This record gives sequence, structure tokens and C-alpha cells, in this order.
Amino acid sequence: MNVLGIESSCDETSVAIIRNGELTANLISSQDFHSKYGGVVPELSSRAHLQIVIPLLKDALKESGLELNQIDLFCATAGPGLIGALLVGFTFAKGLAYSLKKPFIGVNHIEGHIYSGFLMKQKPEFPFLALVVSGGHTLLLIVKSFNEIKRLGTTVDDAAGEAFDKVSKMLGLGYPGGPKIQEMSKNGNPEKINFPIASLDQPYNFSFSGLKTSVLRYIQKNFKHKGIPEKEIPDIAASFQNAVIKALIGNTEKALQNYDVKSISLVGGVAANLELRNSFIRLAEKYNLKLIIPGLEYCGDNAAMIAFRGTKLFEAGRVDSLNMSPYPGLPDKQFS
Ligand code: KG4
Ligand code: ZN
Repeated sequence: MNVLGIESSCDETSVAIIRNGELTANLISSQDFHSKYGGVVPELSSRAHLQIVIPLLKDALKESGLELNQIDLFCATAGPGLIGALLVGFTFAKGLAYSLKKPFIGVNHIEGHIYSGFLMKQKPEFPFLALVVSGGHTLLLIVKSFNEIKRLGTTVDDAAGEAFDKVSKMLGLGYPGGPKIQEMSKNGNPEKINFPIASLDQPYNFSFSGLKTSVLRYIQKNFKHKGIPEKEIPDIAASFQNAVIKALIGNTEKALQNYDVKSISLVGGVAANLELRNSFIRLAEKYNLKLIIPGLEYCGDNAAMIAFRGTKLFEAGRVDSLNMSPYPGLPDKQFS
């Protein structure tokens, strides 16, 4: 069976093909031009998806040695994401399915991330503990199977990636913030400034808004309106990154002490962070658990995870109606 996946929920357009169970193409085009606006501009994003999706499809088919009429299942991200951006990939995939009389599945983007560890040679073993850290979501989950997920915690305010992006803006480093903060942190002292980590009543929830405010206060108190001296930026970036990692590791470790799992998986855009990856390696060693962190090309938004998730849903008997609409937010009660 040959499966085509399309991802267009934010600022990456991606087309992937799984040919008879093997990933043969995962092409990703990142819209770098948003950096000059300090964040993603939805209308520009939709337009860029429109311009690139057909060339990407052609290249993915070529790389996979397939013709379009050899695709047996069409999958696209249904949400959550920017609605205008989602509509491009979603409608395109539905149109292809309709014209070729093939099944279509609208895939939940977060579920795509959750199962992205299965794209690696070493795969997660059920039940596994998953930490999803992306630009829009921070979720700690127990994944029991391909159709059962229990949510332990979520963020009560900002997502981890959002905190990286906002603090990067404060430090004048630009968008997307994660990679910039990671780079700056290399020359900084992570223990220099003790930014507070929120402690919440619900032990597995996260909060990053207070941390973001304390970085802002630190900047205002120490540098007033003069601007941050360049030599101070690495220490602030490293100390902030350290606080985020401590919060993520802290809740994950609490969950490991209270739930029996066979493996751990760290997924989503922020899972690209080298220090976070290293901290998870140490944590998994401490608890003697198998750890799966996707390669960098599967951490950020990609269509391989959408094609994979779509395949599993199809195998379980799901096919979506062509009347299905994309959704900007998480459906009610999902992961509750
Ligand atoms: O999963 P993703 O590509 O898109 C969403 O579904 O949101 O995640 C994007 C987020 C951005 O906030 C970006 O700053 C963050 O992932 N990110 C990182 C790194 N690379 C990307 N955060 C920390 N360190 C990184 N190296
Ligand atoms: Zn994502």
C-alpha cells in the first residue's frame, strides 16, 4: 500500500510518501521569510503553502518512483493549526482523493507528533510516556496503544516552544526562538540566573508564563531602557533554557515514579533542543528505560508523521468523509 501525507498546519509545507511500509520521501519546505516579521503571518503562510505544495508532490512521487495514480491513501493534517494554512494541504489532499477515487484521512497534528518515534529504527514500546513539546502544545501523556492515550498534564498558559519564541524576541534574537536560544546558550552559564519554575497543584501540569515574565523583569531591572549588553545575552538565554528543561524533566520524572511504562518518547519541535535531548538521555538511563527521540527532520513539522498516523488509522478501519473540515484548535475532550 502506498500512502501520501501532506502537512501544512503552520509555516512548514511537507509532503511524504510511505511506499509499502517504507518511508521513501519526506520533503519539507520551511517558510523562513516570517522571521523578518517576528512571527508567522497567517495569510503569507497560506499563500506560500499554495505555491510549493504541487512542486513538493511531484518531487516526492519522483523520489519514491511512483505515479500519482499508484497512491492508495491520501492523508493530510486536519488540525490544530492556522486555519488558512491547514485548508491548503487539507483541501488539496481531499481533491486528489476525490479525483482518483481513493480514501482520505484527516490526521490530528498532535497525534502525528505523538507517534513520530515510530519513524525511527528503534521504536517506542507500549505503554510509553510521551512528552510533546511544540510551538502550540506541551503535553505529558501515557500512550497505551495506537488508539488509547491518557493525558497526565498540559500547560496552563504558554507552550514550551512559545516561551522560547517570546524570550528570544525579548533578547532581540528573532524567530523561531528555539534554535536561536539554543545557539546563544552554548556560550552562557545556565546556573548564572535562577529563574523560577512554577509549581502547580496538579503535579503534571506546566506553566511557562511566570518564567517568561521573570526574564522580562530581570531585563528591566538590570538594564532599564539601555538595552541588553551583548555579553549578557548568553547567560540569560542559557539560564532560561535551563529553567524550561528543569520544568519538563521534573514532571516527566514524577510521572516515571508513578506510572509503569516500557519506554519514553520526546517529540515535537522543541525536542530538537540538544540540551533537552541530553537531559532525557540521562533520565532514561537513570530509570533504565528505552528512549526514543525522533531525528531532527521528524521533530519539527513534517508529513512523514502524518502519513504514518494516517496509515495506522486506516489499518484500524477509519476513512474520513470528503465533507470533513479542518479545525484550528484541539477537539473538545481530546487527551482529557
Ligand atoms: O512542532 P513544531 O515544529 O510546530 C508546532 O506544531 O508548533 O514546533 C515549533 C516550535 C517553535 O516554538 C520553535 O521555537 C521550537 O519548536 N524549536 C525549538 C528548537 N527548534 C525548534 N525549541 C528549542 N530548541 C530548539 N532547538
Ligand atoms: Zn507541530
